[in-house]
Amino acid sequence: MKKAIVVGATSGIGKELAIILANHNYKVGITGRRNQLLLTLQASKPENFIISVFDVSEIDDVPQALQKLTDELGGLDLLVLSSGTGKINPELDTAIEQQTNAVNVTGFTAVANWAFNFFERQGSGHFAAITSVAAIRGSRQAPAYGASKAYQVNYLEGLRQKATKLKMPVYVTDIRPGFVDTPMAQAENMFWVAPVEKAAKQIFKAIENKRDVVYITRRWRLVAFIFRMVPGFLYKRLY
Ligand SMILES: NC(=O)c1ccc[n+]([C@@H]2O[C@H](COP(=O)([O-])OP(=O)(O)OC[C@H]3O[C@@H](n4cnc5c(N)ncnc54)[C@H](OP(=O)(O)O)[C@@H]3O)[C@@H](O)[C@H]2O)c1
Repeated sequence: MKKAIVVGATSGIGKELAIILANHNYKVGITGRRNQLLLTLQASKPENFIISVFDVSEIDDVPQALQKLTDELGGLDLLVLSSGTGKINPELDTAIEQQTNAVNVTGFTAVANWAFNFFERQGSGHFAAITSVAAIRGSRQAPAYGASKAYQVNYLEGLRQKATKLKMPVYVTDIRPGFVDTPMAQAENMFWVAPVEKAAKQIFKAIENKRDVVYITRRWRLVAFIFRMVPGFLYKRLY
């Protein structure tokens, strides 16, 4: 039985992916802050799920929590980081932006480093993180969200370079969704909103295929391309 951890499995993409992994005979460590939601998920397949409750922004606790969960699973082949946050912030409230950074930058780094170092020591393994198409350009609606996702994308590219130099079967996958129908999706003018089940199926396939970078759903690759092409003088007037 393969072993996986999904960080941020209480709802949305992480929860759906944890279910798919369990259905594919993975033993899955599921994490998040909301214990009750983890207990409900565990009850659906008790033999497949092990719970760990922690906050990724409490970075001193992260390595210990992940190591303990790995020990309970009896090893680790795959770690998927789905925890993330971001709020529409028209008032540019600094507390909201800093909370986004605490989860998407500081917490992300703590989880990513633990995972990479674990897989390097082991000589094999796969780290995948859910970033976003929002990484491509800045956003007036949620500046820290876009910026933190750009950080994640860049960080993952660095880790992928490190993984390649190792010449060992260590993989790093950057999963970039557009809009997915989860509690987090709350931007104005949403389009091409994918059902979470469809998104999670495509993510699972990308992980199985050890893809470097994948857009979810696939058509979002086109949006990312167009976003990248829009010149700055025009982009600043958009929306
Ligand atoms: N939905 C979209 O349209 C969309 C698009 C692009 C990218 N994404 C990305 O996809 C990922 C998953 O989001 P989602 O759409 O599935 O939203 P979601 O349903 O709100 O899930 C967010 C997950 O993050 C966890 N989380 C948040 N803050 C945390 C913290 N401090 N410590 C630990 N876990 C924390 C939540 O668990 P607890 O609250 O229980 O801690 C929850 O499991 C995020 O990184 C998001 O940026 C989503």
